[in-house]
Amino acid sequence: MKLLVTGMAGFIASRTAAMLLEQGHDVVGVDNVNDYYDVRLKLWRLRELARLAGADAATLARLDPAANSVGACPDSFCAGGLSFVRGDIENKPFVLDLFARHGFDAVLNLAARAGVRYSMEHPDVYMTTNLLGTLHVLDGMRAHGCKKMVLASTSSLYAGQPMPFREDLPVNTPISPYAASKKAAEALAYSYHHLYGLDVSVVRYFTVYGPAGRPDMSIFRFTQWIAQGRPLELFGDGEQSRDFTYVDDIARGTIAALRPLGFETINLGGGNRPLTMNAVIEFIEKALGKKAAIERRPFHKADVRETYADIGKARRLLDWAPAVAPHDGFALTVDWHREQADWLRDIRL
Ligand SMILES: NC(=O)c1ccc[n+]([C@@H]2O[C@H](COP(=O)([O-])OP(=O)(O)OC[C@H]3O[C@@H](n4cnc5c(N)ncnc54)[C@H](O)[C@@H]3O)[C@@H](O)[C@H]2O)c1
Repeated sequence: MKLLVTGMAGFIASRTAAMLLEQGHDVVGVDNVNDYYDVRLKLWRLRELARLAGADAATLARLDPAANSVGACPDSFCAGGLSFVRGDIENKPFVLDLFARHGFDAVLNLAARAGVRYSMEHPDVYMTTNLLGTLHVLDGMRAHGCKKMVLASTSSLYAGQPMPFREDLPVNTPISPYAASKKAAEALAYSYHHLYGLDVSVVRYFTVYGPAGRPDMSIFRFTQWIAQGRPLELFGDGEQSRDFTYVDDIARGTIAALRPLGFETINLGGGNRPLTMNAVIEFIEKALGKKAAIERRPFHKADVRETYADIGKARRLLDWAPAVAPHDGFALTVDWHREQADWLRDIRL
C-alpha cells in the first residue's frame, strides 16, 4: 500500500512508519518539525527511518542530531519506499496538493500538538493542528478517493470515568484543551464517515513510552534527570498511575487498525495493572544505579489521576495485545538513553 503518515518525525509515527517500511509498504511522511520540544529528537527519528530505507550518506549526515546542534531539518528527502516532506497539515493547499500527487490507499493521522499542560498556555494551536489539520486531511481524502484513516486519539478523554476505561464510556467532559481538541477531531471524523463513507479507526493511546520518546513526558524526563544527577520534578505525591504502553506495541496496533472497520474507537493500552510514578522512578533508579533527588510540585489540574485500558475490543477487532512487559520496555528505554547520552546531554526538558 501507499500510505500517508502525518507527524512522521514524532515519537509514535516514526516507529509506525518504520514498521510499515519493514512490511514493504511505501510511506510518504509529513511533519512540520515544530520546536515544541528539542528538534534533534525529531532528526534522530528521521535519520533512523532514512537509514532503514537505505538513504545515502549525505542524507544521513544532514539528519545527524549530534552534528546539528540547532536542529536544522531538511525540507525533504527520499530513500527506497520512503519520502519525507516538511509541511504543515494546517496548510490546506499543501495537504490537498499532497493527495493530488500521490494516490494514497490510507492515512495514519498522528500529527498533533500532544502535551496536556502546554495546551493550557496555547490552546489555539491545539485547535488549529488537532482539529483544523485533521479536517484538511479528511478533505484531502474525500477529494481524492482515499477511504481509510487511522486517527490517533487519547486516554485523556476518559478523565473521571470508572476504570478500566472502555470505549463506550461517555467522554463529554474533557479536562484540558488537548483532550477537547482530540474529542473534537474524533467527532469530525465520525461526521465524514457518516456523510462521505470514509472508514475511520480512532485509536486511543495510553501513555506511550520507549526509546526516543518525548522529552515533555515523565519517562524521558525522569531518566535524564536521574542519569545526570539533577533534581527530579514530580507533580503530586507520585501515586498517580498510568497504563504505560510500549511504543512498538502501539505502532503494531496502529497498523492493525488499517483494516476496514466502518467507524470504530479502539483503546490501545498496556492493559496491565497501572504503574504509579513512584514505581516508575524506582525502576529507573535501579536500572541506572542512581537515586533520584525528588522536588515536589502541586498536582496539575489538567492531568488525569489514573488511566487503565480495557483492551477487549482491540483483542477482538484487531487481534492485538501488547507484547512488551513494562519491565522489558523500561529496560530498553533506559538502554537507549545510555547509548545516546552524548548528544542527549543538553537536550531541552
Ligand atoms: N505519546 C503518548 O503517550 C500519546 C498518548 C495519547 C495520544 N497520543 C497521540 O499520538 C500522536 C503522536 O504523539 P507523539 O507522542 O508521537 O507526539 P510527537 O509530538 O512526538 O509527534 C507529533 C508530531 O506531529 C508533528 N506536528 C505537529 N503539528 C503539526 C502540523 N501542524 N503539521 C505537521 N506536523 C505536525 C510534530 O512536529 C511531531 O513530530 C498524537 O496525535 C498524540 O496526540 C500520544
